[in-house]
Amino acid sequence: MVARVIPVERFDLVIFGATGDLARRKILPGLYRRWKEGQIPEGAAIVGAARSEMTAEAFRASVATALDEFLSPRDIDADKLADFLAMVDYVAIDARGEGGWQALGEKMREGVVRAFYLSVAPALFGDIAQRLHERGIADRAARIVVEKPFGTDLASARALNAALADHFHEDQIYRIDHYLGKETVQNLMAVRFANILFEPLWNAQFVDHVQITVAETVGVGGRGEYYDHSGAMRDMVQNHMMQLLCLIAMEPPHSFEPDAMRDEKLKVIRALDPLRPGELVRGQYRGRDGDDYLVQSGNPDSRTESFIAMKLHVSNWRWKGTPFYLRTGKRLKSRASEIAITFKEPPHSIFGESNQWRENVLAIRLQPDEGMDLRVMIKEPGPGGMRLKDVALDMSFAEALGNDLDIPDAYERLIMDVIRGNQTLFMRGDEVEAAWAWVDPVIAAWEARDDRPEPYEPGSTGPEGALMLLHRDGRRWREIR
Ligand code: BG6
Repeated sequence: MVARVIPVERFDLVIFGATGDLARRKILPGLYRRWKEGQIPEGAAIVGAARSEMTAEAFRASVATALDEFLSPRDIDADKLADFLAMVDYVAIDARGEGGWQALGEKMREGVVRAFYLSVAPALFGDIAQRLHERGIADRAARIVVEKPFGTDLASARALNAALADHFHEDQIYRIDHYLGKETVQNLMAVRFANILFEPLWNAQFVDHVQITVAETVGVGGRGEYYDHSGAMRDMVQNHMMQLLCLIAMEPPHSFEPDAMRDEKLKVIRALDPLRPGELVRGQYRGRDGDDYLVQSGNPDSRTESFIAMKLHVSNWRWKGTPFYLRTGKRLKSRASEIAITFKEPPHSIFGESNQWRENVLAIRLQPDEGMDLRVMIKEPGPGGMRLKDVALDMSFAEALGNDLDIPDAYERLIMDVIRGNQTLFMRGDEVEAAWAWVDPVIAAWEARDDRPEPYEPGSTGPEGALMLLHRDGRRWREIR
C-alpha cells in the first residue's frame, strides 16, 4: 500500500542560525531527504541566514559538506543534490541590528508560504520576531518555528511566549519538541486510538503502573557547559518526557486536529500532583579517565543531575492510583527508550498457587529496535498438567513493515508539517507554561535543601536510589537492555 502524503505548497523557508549545528545536522539534511522523496515542490526556496558574511555560493558549498557528513552515502544522489542546492540562497543578517533585513525582505516572494525557522539562542527570538513583523517580511500567514530550550523556568517561558505573541498569533507559532516528530512517538497515538483492544483497559482499574524510560549512552562531553545549567529535568523531562507522558495518559481527543490534541495533553499536565518528598532521585555519573560528569561539565562543584527518576501521580478519574515512573539519564548502559504498561493481576487464578503468574506488560519500544511486545500467559505444551508460561507477542517495525524500512528523522516530518500548516505535533504556549509550572517547584525544593545528586557508574543503569524508588512499592524497573 502506498502511503498517502499530503503535498505541500511552494514556500520560502528562512533558516536563522543556518551555519549552526542543528541546521547542519538536522534541518538541512531533513530538507534534502524530503526533496529527494519528491515532497518539496519545484520553486521552493531555502534561505540560510546567519551572522557570517559569505556568498550564497560559499553557503551552498557548506550545505553540501553538511549533507555529506550527516547523511548516509545512499541518500546522496548527485543530480538531486545539484537541484537541491540550486534552491538554496544566503543572506548575512544581524539579528539585533539593521544589517541584512532589507536584503532578506527583497528575497521573499508573493503568493508562497513563508516560514521562518529560528535555530538560534532563545534570547534572540523576540528581536527576530520583531524585525520580521516590523519590516513586513512576515505576513499574517507566515509561520515562525522555535527550538528548545523554550525557557528555563515558568517566568522565562512566559517572557518568550509574550515576545512572540507581540508580533505573531498562536496559530503561526510552531514550538518544536523533536520527540513528537519521531515515528514511534506518533505511533503511540495509533496504538491507543486506532485499536479497540487497549482503550477499555487503559485506566487505573486495570493498569498497575506505567514506566517511561529514555536511556542514553552518551555523556555531556562537548556540550557540558550548556548542560550544566540545565540538567536532566530541564533538558529531557520538562519537554520530551512530559510529552510522552501526555500521549500515554491523555483522554481520546475528538479528532486529530491540533487544538483537540493539545487541549487533552494540557489537561494531563494540569492533573499532575506536586511531586511528593522521596519520590525523586537525581544522579550524576562519576567515573575514571575523564568519563566523569564533573570533568566533562567543567564544573568540579556541580550539583546538576545527569540522571533523574520520579514517581508521578495523575489525579483524574482515569488514573488516580496508578503511578507513572519516569527515568532518563546520560552515560547509561545502553541507548533504549520505551514505555511499558504493566497491567494488574486477574482477580482470581483458577490454576492454583503452584503456577507462577506474571503480569501482562505492553512494552512500546521507541528507539532503537522500534516495535512493541505484549507479554501474555499461555499453557506450556506437554502432558505434565496445566503449567503456565509467559511469552511475548512481539512486533518489530523492521520485520512488520520491511527490513529496508527507512524511518524518517523527526525533523523531516516536523518541517513538512510547518509548511503544511499543521500544528498537531507542536507544543502550544499554554502547554509549555503548564509543564514549567509543574517543574519549577520541584527544582526549587531540591535547591532549597541543597540536594546533591547520587553518583552512579558510567555504563550502569543509574544510581541505587532509583532502584529503591520502585522496590519500596514492591515493583522493579524493566531492564535497560
Ligand atoms: C535533546 C537533549 O533535546 O534530546 C539531549 O538536549 C538529548 O540532551 C536528546 O541527548 C535526545 O534526543 P534523541 O532523539 O537522541 O533521543
